[in-house]
Amino acid sequence: MDELSFLTGHYSVPAKQLGEPAPSDTELEQILQAAMSAPDHGGLAPFRFMTIQGQARHQLAEVFGQATLGRDPAVDEAYLQKQQAKPLRSPLIIVVIARIEQNPQIPEIEQILSAGCAAQHIQLASRALGYGSIWLTGDNCYDLNVHQALGLDIDERIIGFIYVGTPKPPFEEKPRSPSSAVTTAWESPHNSDFAI
Ligand SMILES: Cc1cc2nc3c(=O)[nH]c(=O)nc-3n(C[C@H](O)[C@H](O)[C@H](O)COP(=O)(O)O)c2cc1C
Repeated sequence: MDELSFLTGHYSVPAKQLGEPAPSDTELEQILQAAMSAPDHGGLAPFRFMTIQGQARHQLAEVFGQATLGRDPAVDEAYLQKQQAKPLRSPLIIVVIARIEQNPQIPEIEQILSAGCAAQHIQLASRALGYGSIWLTGDNCYDLNVHQALGLDIDERIIGFIYVGTPKPPFEEKPRSPSSAVTTAWESPHNSDFAI
């Protein structure tokens, strides 16, 4: 087997195709531990995780519904129901939260990127244990009412909701673009006018 196939063959699974069982408590701990080795400038650990399972998913559905109405009190019923149904699609949701501290050496973007890497470690660790996942955001991710309901501090941001579960068919091949399409080898032009 190609040694990189775990990475080259990585794909997200649509949330509605993530069924029971969810990772066990021990597996969930392993998945979250894997996220702790995300790159982290200065060792700030600029992230934290919140797990939402079982009945708590229904409470999150209620929060998503209230937040949707807060954004648009005249929202149509079908859209409202769609927002409320989101947390019920998979058995486990891991909320990845960036904790931004003011630091002259480590700008906000680096702390957010570190939290993003933690989210990706969660996805890869889930897959290594046989589970599928998808990283989703959407309006609820950036809604202050959602932040408040989840108990976020003022310096915290939701990086994403990682939906996790056992992948259900249909499984689709995902062709990927060649990296050459987005890669160039930079060389300084010999006759450059640019001078330091
Ligand atoms: C920060 C971030 C936010 C995302 N938010 C959404 C989202 O709200 N809805 C969505 O359909 N996909 C979203 N995606 C994309 C999916 O996670 C996934 O990458 C996409 O479906 C492509 O599948 P693949 O990972 O197998 O290529 C997001 C990805 C990232 C990195």
